[in-house]
Amino acid sequence: MQGQKHIIVVDNDIARREQIATVLSFVGEHFHVCAEDDVSQYFSETGNILTVILCGQISDLITGLVRKHPATPFILHDVLDATQLNEAVNVLGSLAVPLNYAQLTEQVHHCHQYHNQLPSKRHYAGPNPLFRSLIGTSEPMLQVRFLIEQVANTQASVLILGESGTGKEVIARNIHNLSDRCKGPFVPVNCGAIPADLLESELFGHEKGAFTGAISTRKGRFEMAEGGTLFLDEIGDMPQPMQVKLLRVLQERTFERVGGAKSIKTNVRIIAATHQHLESMIKEGTFREDLFYRLNVFPIETPALRERQDDIPLLIQELISRFEAEQGRSVRFTETAIESLKLNAWAGNVRELSNLIERMIIMFGDQVVNVSELPAKYQHIDVEEYQPEYPEELQERDAINELFSGFDYDDDEEDNTSFDSEPETSSMVDVLPSDGMNLKEYLAELEVSMINQALEKNDWVVARSAELLGMRRTTLVEKMRKYNLQKNV
Ligand SMILES: Nc1ncnc2c1ncn2[C@@H]1O[C@H](COP(=O)(O)OP(=O)(O)O)[C@@H](O)[C@H]1O
Ligand SMILES: [Mg+2]
Repeated sequence: MQGQKHIIVVDNDIARREQIATVLSFVGEHFHVCAEDDVSQYFSETGNILTVILCGQISDLITGLVRKHPATPFILHDVLDATQLNEAVNVLGSLAVPLNYAQLTEQVHHCHQYHNQLPSKRHYAGPNPLFRSLIGTSEPMLQVRFLIEQVANTQASVLILGESGTGKEVIARNIHNLSDRCKGPFVPVNCGAIPADLLESELFGHEKGAFTGAISTRKGRFEMAEGGTLFLDEIGDMPQPMQVKLLRVLQERTFERVGGAKSIKTNVRIIAATHQHLESMIKEGTFREDLFYRLNVFPIETPALRERQDDIPLLIQELISRFEAEQGRSVRFTETAIESLKLNAWAGNVRELSNLIERMIIMFGDQVVNVSELPAKYQHIDVEEYQPEYPEELQERDAINELFSGFDYDDDEEDNTSFDSEPETSSMVDVLPSDGMNLKEYLAELEVSMINQALEKNDWVVARSAELLGMRRTTLVEKMRKYNLQKNV
């Protein structure tokens, strides 16, 4: 999987960039802060930039950087004069002063959208809008991909087996697209969806007057698929008499239209699929054994989604991009929500996941979805108890808006956020004093006290202290820097 994308904050004003860093760590984004002179290293080293937040003066160096990297989105914050960047398409917006959580999340979301829309990411939009790429890097999917490549350029019939919604049709289309028949048609027929008495005419066509309602001659799917691939979906639902007729076509490579006498030659590759267990159907006498062996020349089994949980984040990304391309709306899931979705059983497999995402886009279009926003049956993680990589994302969520609305960058306010390493704990209260209080100051004081205690307890080993505080190491480092906390020597 690709590495996590980072936000780069470029600001020569140290105090301001530290405050932005605090907000970003609250939001749970990965980030680096730096002065203007150091920004180039991130472009040459990581190449994995979600967005660059530009603050203060826009210098020629910065203007050059924006123009040189059109694939990287930039956001402005506290910039006095941005006229030099007026025509840059990759400057997506600006953040108000003071920073606010909701706006920042929204802008970050736009940056994700920007990345998704870059040409190299639009792999799913081909000349055939129905063609869907096959997503997945898990072991079972690599195996499927290998089989597809093996069989594509042969004439062998393929039988795709697997639960509903696991991508059997996606695989069939991939085989077709990779085969030398790719210039020919790909014709799908859902054998389960067509009434038994119409299936023969659907597959083989009919002559005018062949039956009541046959007012003109009509080609069937076999003729439509000439030179290409015929995809017989839900072959297990094909009635027995049709199974006999299909077997004959596969053996003799000819058929007749319903009501017609003329034999028509056919050059069609057959790919069949079913979610049913054909071998038991053979035992029960509902599926013909001889047809089974004709179709089962090359079997491919599609894994259920619960057997490849690691593909879920990639699939979510792909499905969101599809809806975005179709509907112009999107949604984002928190890491915790994705973890929760990975634990789901997914009886309906990728189709169920796709339906869920569509539903989330309708309900929470262009917003961020956490576990508590998921429908109850998809909540497999208790938001309160979960100890994820970024617990502050959850624990501090409620306090965040309060806290951030109090941020401003006046110098005289600075004093509030510089503390001695021995904090004043005696003033801690849990009842609102009658004359009110400065909540921001109070919370910051509490935070410093807890951090100090954790550090003391762990001999100033940051990693262990961070664990004790349920926060990431990098977050703790940022906070120590912000509050100027150092070991007294
Ligand atoms: N590996 C995959 N990568 C991307 N999309 C997939 C994948 N598997 C399934 N899908 C999507 O899930 C939905 C169901 O797939 P489909 O091929 O119709 O399943 P099946 O034929 O097994 O019932 C479709 O929207 C399809 O695009
Ligand atoms: Mg299907």
